[in-house]
Amino acid sequence: MKKEFFECPEALKSNNFYGFDWLEFLTAIPSPLALVTSYKSNGKSNGSMQSWLSFSSENGFYCIFSSVHKCSHMYSSIAETKQLVINFMSADSYAKCYSTVMHNSFDEDELASAGLTAVPARKVNAPLVEECFLNLECEYAWEKELFPNSDHVVMCVKVVNAWMDSNIYNGKNGGRYGDNGYLYNIHSPADPDSGVLNDTSIGVVRKFKDYSELGI
Ligand SMILES: Cc1cc2nc3c(=O)[nH]c(=O)nc-3n(C[C@H](O)[C@H](O)[C@H](O)COP(=O)(O)O)c2cc1C
Repeated sequence: MKKEFFECPEALKSNNFYGFDWLEFLTAIPSPLALVTSYKSNGKSNGSMQSWLSFSSENGFYCIFSSVHKCSHMYSSIAETKQLVINFMSADSYAKCYSTVMHNSFDEDELASAGLTAVPARKVNAPLVEECFLNLECEYAWEKELFPNSDHVVMCVKVVNAWMDSNIYNGKNGGRYGDNGYLYNIHSPADPDSGVLNDTSIGVVRKFKDYSELGI
């Protein structure tokens, strides 16, 4: 039975949503996981886990970050340098990428502290994470507040160079999809009847069918 939700269900109200809207948890729409890297004004590397992002593809390839906190080092360093790298990790390097969240002081070289290998990008002034299978070198394009005086901006960046591991794009061992490919953030799916907010988890993508098999 399909149910309508126009306000936060009573059963969910006692949960701590940490500033997120309750619809975030009702829908729990998976989003791709990446580590965004840049240089802070002290020259040290910054790593910022990002999950609210998608891509657009007219006259170039653009990434739209839909929720960048204005108080983050990512925001301030990109405001200064206008350059960044978006690094996509597979499951084997997730823990190290995630640990940048725990090494987030301005004075810290976040990639070194996380045990990750920083390599200078070729076309932009930002570090690239060697352990990640896909690195997108990007230049800042524009931003807009999510709504007037929001804590977050929607930020668009243009991809100017890409590096991808041949062991991923050759499709062997699942390639981009499956256990060794892209990771997705599954953010605490809620059961609006019981009020239970499940743990956040990491997902991988599995191909369902090719278009030719669907007959469309
Ligand atoms: C799985 C995951 C996804 C995240 N996605 C975002 C995001 O899309 N936008 C954001 O502003 N913060 C996001 N965060 C929080 C930042 O990664 C975190 O606050 C980080 O410490 C900010 O680093 P920075 O200050 O170096 O930029 C996410 C964290 C995790 C663990």
